[in-house]
Amino acid sequence: MPKNGSARPENHVIVLFGATGDLAKRKLLPGLFHLHTAGLLPQEYRIIGTSPAQYAVTDEQFKEHAEAACADFCITKPTDPSWPSFAERLSFAAADPDDPAPLVAAVQKAEKEIGGSPRRLFHLAVPPAAFTSVIGMLGASGLAADRARVIIEKPFGTDLDSARKLDQAVLAVFDESQVFRIDHFLGKESVDNILAFRFANGLNEPIWNRHHLRYVEIDVPETLSIEGRAAFYDATGAYRDMVVTHLFQVLAFVAMEAPVSLSAKHLRAEKLKVYEALKPIDVQHVVRGQYEGYRSEPGVAANSQTETMVAVRVEVDNWRWHGVPFFLRSGKAMGASRQVIVLGFQPPPLRMFPAHRKDTPYGRQNEIVIDFADPGAIKVNFLAKVPGAELSLGNAEMAFYYKDSFVASNALEGYERLILLAMLGDQSLFTSSDGIERVWEISEPLLENPSPVEPYAVGSYGPESVRQLIAPYHWHLPHV
Ligand code: BG6
Repeated sequence: MPKNGSARPENHVIVLFGATGDLAKRKLLPGLFHLHTAGLLPQEYRIIGTSPAQYAVTDEQFKEHAEAACADFCITKPTDPSWPSFAERLSFAAADPDDPAPLVAAVQKAEKEIGGSPRRLFHLAVPPAAFTSVIGMLGASGLAADRARVIIEKPFGTDLDSARKLDQAVLAVFDESQVFRIDHFLGKESVDNILAFRFANGLNEPIWNRHHLRYVEIDVPETLSIEGRAAFYDATGAYRDMVVTHLFQVLAFVAMEAPVSLSAKHLRAEKLKVYEALKPIDVQHVVRGQYEGYRSEPGVAANSQTETMVAVRVEVDNWRWHGVPFFLRSGKAMGASRQVIVLGFQPPPLRMFPAHRKDTPYGRQNEIVIDFADPGAIKVNFLAKVPGAELSLGNAEMAFYYKDSFVASNALEGYERLILLAMLGDQSLFTSSDGIERVWEISEPLLENPSPVEPYAVGSYGPESVRQLIAPYHWHLPHV
């Protein structure tokens, strides 16, 4: 029985495409090792790393690579006694679209070692341009058998047309029930806690609408720059890397109606309704920034117009949210690494406190702030009476921290949770193609007609126009 009592997946052969890449190093290999140490992986499993032959490594080199990745990025280090039993399950096999034979042989060998009919899980941690050929190879080689499942990384396509084509290619090989389009933000504890916060309490939902809220922010600045990912990043940019993927997923959880149940069918249906209510993006309501010095990063074009920061005002035009702007922002080389949702309240109708009358009309005193970066927190900022003879007001805060209420060590990282769910065949926290395609559709005005990038200083929160975009409100960050 796994340590935390959850269900344990059937036996599996896990195949990691892009096994020596950045994502595998930072998230996938450390995540799998953490699941192993938590006793959450199947009784019997093998992990086969794969890449085109030109990047192939030996089994031993792959194990060393995994060990270094886990030493750097896993909370349990490879010095843990559980490491050898994880490492012995790792191997490597090359696969090219015209020569899948080494991978096919490795999968067959692993299945024989396990015995019975283990499931296959293919994780495609490859650049978007490679998805279609890898999927085609899985189909042509027979690897995509009935009991196989596939995890596809974001971004799913680069625009509406490519997303549709990718979906056709995927569904020509796999049934929709076998397809897991991953967005690791949906595996974050604090993102799923939005559902609990809203729908498990009577306190919050009555005020979660246009009658009580006047703006919503979803803000994900990062201090990281592009960290050697120029080839991917310069072709992708902040909008496709973060907004069309992660931030819109978070937006759907914030904006959705209560689902009938937490099943994949019902959750996805409610998210789709949110996306259908989104108005097409108005390019007047977009700021594209580029940090100073980006064009000198190795691998970046000298005249690159790729945005390293983007801020967008979007509108969910339905009964609940009409007239409430949603401000989304994310960027690299910014002033802090934070992931916050801010719900700003309407002011009270009457300002009877002397101090209140002097306040700026759209202050920051009345907000719910959900910090969804691990370990996560929820804060309510409100005005309170300052103790003393006078009835004067001061800023106050009520705060929830996971560690104060729960055993934080039970937490899984986003990827860990989602890989586990994929092995269990649970699609509830994976995205559907119609939702993704609708987001690409409303993004078309921006993708077709992007404004020029504006420079911003490294360590700032974007160019000055980011502040104008949100006026008369304020970005919660930087919070001083
Ligand atoms: C990835 C993006 O999907 O998410 C990265 O490609 C970004 O650019 C990352 O840094 C942020 O995720 P997290 O969970 O590590 O904060």
